[in-house]
Amino acid sequence: MRAGKLICLLSVLSLAIALGCADSDGQFVGSSQKAQVPTVANLTSGISNYASACAACHAIDGSGTERGNSLLGCESCKAGFDPLVSRIHATMPEGNPAACQDSESDTCARDTAAHILCALNPDLVEGCDEAISLAVVPPEADRVQGAESYAQCQFCHGAEGQGVTFNGTVFGPPLTDCQVCQGSFEGLESYIHDTMPPSAPTNCSGQCALDTAAHVLCAFNPDLVDAESCEITIPKAVIPATADLAAGEASYAALCSQCHFADGSFRLSGPDCLSCQGDFSVLSGRIHISMPPPLPALCSLGNGCAENVAAYVFCEFNPERAEGCP
Ligand code: HEC
Ligand code: HEC
Ligand code: HEC
Repeated sequence: MRAGKLICLLSVLSLAIALGCADSDGQFVGSSQKAQVPTVANLTSGISNYASACAACHAIDGSGTERGNSLLGCESCKAGFDPLVSRIHATMPEGNPAACQDSESDTCARDTAAHILCALNPDLVEGCDEAISLAVVPPEADRVQGAESYAQCQFCHGAEGQGVTFNGTVFGPPLTDCQVCQGSFEGLESYIHDTMPPSAPTNCSGQCALDTAAHVLCAFNPDLVDAESCEITIPKAVIPATADLAAGEASYAALCSQCHFADGSFRLSGPDCLSCQGDFSVLSGRIHISMPPPLPALCSLGNGCAENVAAYVFCEFNPERAEGCP
């Protein structure tokens, strides 16, 4: 028994895969006694709860902060599912345990415990296989706007959501397969609303958080989001009957092609052209306001140029995005 205990201790200390051996309380350590997450637990709510009520102290990836310890391999995590639920119910969030309970009317402690085990401590748990349901982007989220708003996030998270590390300092973690991306749409949205960008969360709250969450999911996490809900938010642009394609072609050659090239290959075709992903008026408005630099008045909505050129850009360079081309 003593020798067995010693081996057990050593194996834990050396971080080797723990043997299935018992300590003096008969508590098993190791793979033979994994926590079982009941199928009723809702991982989607778990991640939202965790992001809003716990991450401020325990960090979004569970690694802990100065206000709360690491939950990776934490004592309560090793105790089993029910003890972890009770611990959260009774004591967390610290200072305000009523905010996350396990009662008839609330499943916060249960769902959050499931998230802590399944996402942060996968080695300690079984029963997480029940698929995490895919996030659904609500129709009021505007992906095109979201891609524009995302500009303020790129510095830390990278243009493709790949994350940015410079000289060993992590500016921002990758947003591909990110923790808060694994839950519900609302969980990601409220995380951005409440905490991003870190120094000034009000810079992207409300509609911005809604739109940016749609961009983060649809552009960087196609496996985590209902593909159809990403589609719905980008209806085809309807070309107005008044647009004159021939006039648009002539204006394009005179005012635009020197920078955007005859085939629109600089920023005016495919996904590179953000303003081409939305409504017709998004593109014509963008041209009206800013193109050609430095004299956008040369091609405005007032003189018809912006409408005609927008029609030309849609019908020639982005026909799959356009509806009603002559
Ligand atoms: C205000 C900061 C704060 C918040 C918010 C918070 N915690 Fe904690 N948590 C702590 C501190 C500090 C400890 C360690 C002290 C203790 O054990 O009570 C802790 C301990 C824990 C433990 C035990 C870890 C171990 O080593 O066994 C768990 C589990 C836990 N928290 C889960 C949660 C959950 C789930 C939430 C959200 C519902 C949450 N916490 C919110 C500060 C916080
Ligand atoms: C100044 C750098 C910076 C900027 C700008 C920034 N972030 Fe972050 N972001 C971070 C850091 C650092 C973390 C990790 C925070 C943590 O661990 O609690 C993070 C975490 C996140 C996460 C959670 C990642 C995960 O693993 O679950 C999301 C989602 C996110 N940011 C989205 C955004 C969005 C959207 C914007 C723009 C509106 C933005 N961020 C702007 C630095 C930044
Ligand atoms: C002097 C060079 C120059 C000329 C001329 C010019 N553009 Fe641009 N255009 C740019 C640059 C650089 C960008 C990218 C920077 C930016 O977004 O402002 C851009 C961006 C754009 C965008 C945004 C693309 C996106 O991803 O949403 C549109 C649309 C656009 N131009 C249309 C036009 C049209 C139409 C004309 C002619 C009426 C025109 N431009 C003339 C340089 C030019």
